[in-house]
Amino acid sequence: SKARVAALKREAAIKAVSYVEDGMAVGLGTGSTAKFMIDALGERVRKEGLRIRAIPTSEASANQASALSIPITNFSDDPELDIAIDGADEVQAGSLFLIKGRGGALLREKIVAVSARRFVVIVDESKLVDDLGTHMPVPVEIIPWGWERVENLLCKTGARHCQPRRNDDGSLYQTDNHNIIIDCDYERIEDPRALADQIISITGVVDHGLFLDVTTEVLVAGTGGLRRLAL
Ligand code: A5P
Repeated sequence: SKARVAALKREAAIKAVSYVEDGMAVGLGTGSTAKFMIDALGERVRKEGLRIRAIPTSEASANQASALSIPITNFSDDPELDIAIDGADEVQAGSLFLIKGRGGALLREKIVAVSARRFVVIVDESKLVDDLGTHMPVPVEIIPWGWERVENLLCKTGARHCQPRRNDDGSLYQTDNHNIIIDCDYERIEDPRALADQIISITGVVDHGLFLDVTTEVLVAGTGGLRRLAL
């Protein structure tokens, strides 16, 4: 059920927040699981007087953090983050490779993830897959100008289907960075590294939702309890 999944997301989120210590610079993810995490972090700031500085990965997470009086920092004051905590859309358990970006925040999420010494991914067990691409297309953030050309080239990377993400009114979805997203459905991704190289080499692509070699650990909440995956 929905309530059950929410409870699992919250369980993983609360565990991840227990890793945050006084004085840390913290990357804040985006999405429903990250929302539980930011709430729990806000509670520690308020109740324990935990002193942290945060970099949010979306306008939504920035608004939530501000409402909870979590101090915001930047890469000039904090070029390296102690920890970043975020959700994911798919997790390949063996490699800790991810697909992210269903919420459209993949670019800032990746910038924050690669800036953190420790990148903790929080998911409920429904996000675990054997092969990436099984449930989710790969979101690719591209600049709006000339997008049809980039979409065409993306389709030639082996996708069975590519389409620009749209709002309910049919207009093109716009990211916080004023770019657009092409969702590329591969059915099953056999070689994520090769695909990532192929996608990023297309001029006009800003970044994509394949997060490879960046996750240090995954907290998976399931019916059997909480598991920690690390390499
Ligand atoms: C945001 O762009 C995504 O990468 C999210 O991290 C991802 O969609 C996970 O969201 P949920 O926690 O809501 O499933």
